[in-house]
Amino acid sequence: MTSKNFINKSVILHLTILLTLNSLLVLASKCPVVLEGECQCKEIVEESVSGLRVECTQTTAKKLFNDIDLLRKSGKTIIGLQVRDSDLRELSNLPSGLYNVHELILDNTGIDLETIRESNELLKLLKKFRVYHENFTEIPEDFFLGMDELKNLALNDIGIAYISKDAFSYLEDSLKQLELRENKLRSFPIAIKVLSHLESLDLFGNEIKTVPDDLTFYLQSSLKRLKRLTLNYINCTCDFGQTDFATWIRSHAIKGVTCKTPNRLFGKDISVTPIEEFCEYVSNTQHKLL
Ligand SMILES: *[C@@H]1O[C@H](CO)[C@@H](O)[C@H](O)[C@H]1NC(C)=O
Ligand SMILES: *[C@@H]1O[C@H](CO)[C@@H](O)[C@H](O)[C@H]1NC(C)=O
Repeated sequence: MTSKNFINKSVILHLTILLTLNSLLVLASKCPVVLEGECQCKEIVEESVSGLRVECTQTTAKKLFNDIDLLRKSGKTIIGLQVRDSDLRELSNLPSGLYNVHELILDNTGIDLETIRESNELLKLLKKFRVYHENFTEIPEDFFLGMDELKNLALNDIGIAYISKDAFSYLEDSLKQLELRENKLRSFPIAIKVLSHLESLDLFGNEIKTVPDDLTFYLQSSLKRLKRLTLNYINCTCDFGQTDFATWIRSHAIKGVTCKTPNRLFGKDISVTPIEEFCEYVSNTQHKLL
């Protein structure tokens, strides 16, 4: 069953990649400007919006500013920017040429969270925002102010230990995919309860061992479209099996919540694990004791 499933999934994945590559090849063409820094660009059409996608590695704040400025002066619109393995620590605000950006990817750039917050009037059209390997330990309340179009957000491996309870209130009507992988969260972030359009939530690699009943009550009444929830630190005790959270996951067949402990349940998906299995060991011991 599992391996057949896997093959099906990988076939679908390959087809998707092929189709995506095909459409990119048809639509992408060369960068109209010679850039001086460490960036490359190409013209793309995405969801019927045309413009430039800029990709930079090992650049600096100054070089990035110059490149974005050159592109802006050429009269072209930048709709996507990706910066990886760079040093943007000296960037104090985002370059104004980004006012139309739909997709922003930052990976290991050292950028200050305040830099993004101060420039959020440039990010009004942002649909996809992905941040990896940065140092944003706290997500403040107004961080997403004005990002009304944001559908896909990833804040992965950036050391988040705390998310303000109102942090996602600006994304209430838009956000569909949220990834908070490999952070330092130890409890389920309450801020998520307003995201009524959320379809997929990925909390992989955070030490969240359970979800309290009162929070489950809110999640259950607002996250009506949730199909996938990735949590891999669950302590699947007998008590956990009886919680409102486990009941919700099971009754709505929400995939992706798996046990980390005890060993005998490691990797089991809660949505398909019968309630009795959580307590098996306990009742066996009780039998032995009797
Ligand atoms: C984040 O902070 C740690 C520790 O202060 C440091 O080692 C690391 O280089 C920083 N990462 C970035 C991307 O600035
Ligand atoms: C899981 O819960 C049990 C029972 O409360 C506890 O004894 C055990 O230490 C917990 N395991 C972890 C990894 O937290």
